[in-house]
Amino acid sequence: SKLPDLLRKAPKAELHIHIEGSLEPELIFKLAQRNGVALAYPNVEALRAAYAFTDLQSFLDIYYAGASVLLKEEDFFDMAWAYFERAAADNIVRAELFFDPQTHTARGVDTGIVIRGLHRACQRAQSELRISADLILCFLRHLSEEEAFATLEAALPYRELFIGVGLDSSEQGHPPEKFERVFAKCAELGLHLVAHAGEEGPPDYVRSALDVLKVERIDHGVRSLEDPALVARLARERIPLTVCPLSNIKLCVFPDLSHHNLPKLLDAGLCAMLNSDDPAYFGGYLNDNLVQTFEALPQLGARQAYQVLRNSFEASFVPAERKQAWI
Ligand code: HPA
Ligand code: ZN
Repeated sequence: SKLPDLLRKAPKAELHIHIEGSLEPELIFKLAQRNGVALAYPNVEALRAAYAFTDLQSFLDIYYAGASVLLKEEDFFDMAWAYFERAAADNIVRAELFFDPQTHTARGVDTGIVIRGLHRACQRAQSELRISADLILCFLRHLSEEEAFATLEAALPYRELFIGVGLDSSEQGHPPEKFERVFAKCAELGLHLVAHAGEEGPPDYVRSALDVLKVERIDHGVRSLEDPALVARLARERIPLTVCPLSNIKLCVFPDLSHHNLPKLLDAGLCAMLNSDDPAYFGGYLNDNLVQTFEALPQLGARQAYQVLRNSFEASFVPAERKQAWI
């Protein structure tokens, strides 16, 4: 079949990538050495061997440990630039990058250092790689709403350098309702709103992300399928779901790719597209997600390939006129 080759070569948008999750073990060790940070693993192979996850939390523990080598503006630039070079190889022409300021401010790294380093990489991606890129600031949901407000406050001097906010980290036990007031404030500031929901958490979290946080997209959302009324609403309102197949397998949301519910989401008429989530940890970048998922699921053919690529642009936060040129 020619489909894998078409999937690889087609222009596409990536809307769900945690930039800290693009930090490859080789770069973790390089930055650890550059910054004099001690790691709990003796070498790249030992670190990579620890990437065996049983659920979201088991991943988050090692993901936050990996991010501990990021201290200087240049570190954030180098991490994002490495991602953009891979994105260019995958024919990504639009990327919306999540970043977690609280992962860094907890170690004494100023929010400005994080945002400026990432923003410089976004600018260079545009000028050198022709990738349109923007940043989305994520609040860590295992922390309090008060801490989310403090994070927003610290980021406000850089308001023009990010386009929206999201909600990530441990989902179970941390419902969207916990962040109602800070999301309302972000809406007043004109920021785009997204949230992780229905990855490990129940369909009710997807509903409250929409009704209480008023998000425009749902990150993951695969558990929505357990609730037919919710699926009907997502289809009717054309709420995008940023689906991450390899992530779902590595975090044991589905036993393997042949059991992923992407075909059902598309059959229900949902605006779903594929994303890499944390590519350095989950064994693949965007084209790996596309090719492996379409190979594992015989129900997915050319029609669905066109649909997910088109959905990636439809769901992106670029002005409508620029979107038109891609679709
Ligand atoms: N889910 C929740 N939080 C995250 C993820 C994820 O997949 N990746 C990085 N932080
Ligand atoms: Zn994610």
